[in-house]
Amino acid sequence: MFDLARLWLPLLVLSLIWSLLSGSAENDLDVLARTSADEPANILLLTAHPDDECMFFAPTILALLERTDARRYPKLHSLCLSVGNAEGLGEVRRHELARSLDVLGIEDGRRWVVDRPDLQDNFTVEWHPQVISDVLRPYVLEHDIDIILTFDGHGVSSHPNHISLPKGAAHLLNTLPLASTKPRPRLFSLITVPLHEKYLGPIAPVSTKLALSIARLWRWHPRGAKNADAEAATVGIATETRVPVAVSGWEGYARALRAMMQHRSQLVWFRWLYVSFSRYMWVNEWVEYVEVE
Ligand SMILES: *[C@@H]1O[C@H](CO)[C@@H](O)[C@H](O)[C@H]1NC(C)=O
Repeated sequence: MFDLARLWLPLLVLSLIWSLLSGSAENDLDVLARTSADEPANILLLTAHPDDECMFFAPTILALLERTDARRYPKLHSLCLSVGNAEGLGEVRRHELARSLDVLGIEDGRRWVVDRPDLQDNFTVEWHPQVISDVLRPYVLEHDIDIILTFDGHGVSSHPNHISLPKGAAHLLNTLPLASTKPRPRLFSLITVPLHEKYLGPIAPVSTKLALSIARLWRWHPRGAKNADAEAATVGIATETRVPVAVSGWEGYARALRAMMQHRSQLVWFRWLYVSFSRYMWVNEWVEYVEVE
């Protein structure tokens, strides 16, 4: 006879994993989605190359665009500072980016691509902060941007073009004249995780959701509140109070994958490996950028 009693544990584990992968999750995402006056924010995603948006930022884009609050969404804009012309495919990639943003849901009219001689896709060149700042300024002012989202000082993949983005954006914020009516925009960086955590594939969203639940339980427990940060550290969540986190479920992952498929010129074998195993297809964690001199 079929022994059901022996199956309950594996079945329980399987259904737990399934339920952990199926839904999306988030933590403190309002930090990115709302202004200090608690209005829906105007957000600008600053990227270096076509395909950054879906390879690294999809969980955040999808989570932000999912939010409705009294029928008002945060407005999400995308500015890509190059057409990715390292292999002479710039014009093809410009169109691929448009199709990818269609899939992710960033509207026409809120997305721009820049192609300048001093901001070219090149693995050996850091872009100058002053140039980035000058290019960025009109977009930030004209669209009343409250929040800038970009890479951190490690750029996820250590690409020098990525690494130059937070420096350039910080340069802009430091030089913007302070308006009396509105606080300065805030700059947030996508946290680069250590290499051994980068390629865990679907394990990343499962462990992140577990960690978020544990941290929440711990915080909710009266005696645990004080130790919440220490606990969060041991389970791998960055410990600053209010770390915005976006975790995609299956649907979000599939959407990111569909966006990536629009970048047909880029789909060489190692990118298939990337989309199969990268944490950034599932999980984004954010920290406010602080410039280190
Ligand atoms: C990248 O920059 C280096 C140094 O400026 C230059 O020698 C090289 O030709 C550039 N590569 C491309 C693809 O533009």
